[in-house]
Amino acid sequence: MKIIVHNDKCQGHARCWAMAPNIFELDDEGYIKPGDIDVAEADEKLAWKGAKSCPERALEIGK
Ligand code: F3S
Repeated sequence: MKIIVHNDKCQGHARCWAMAPNIFELDDEGYIKPGDIDVAEADEKLAWKGAKSCPERALEIGK
């Protein structure tokens, strides 16, 4: 599974990171780092929750 990161929508809420800091990395200013995220099968549920926790819908769930 892949998380498609829309950096233009990220406002630095960091809810994704709070949910799964190993999956969602933030830059020094607290915004999600650019680039799509490849998620291991074992982490899919957590990644899904983290992506859904973003109030800006910056994290799209891909395949
Ligand atoms: Fe950004 Fe949303 Fe995470 S606003 S820091 S992608 S919770």
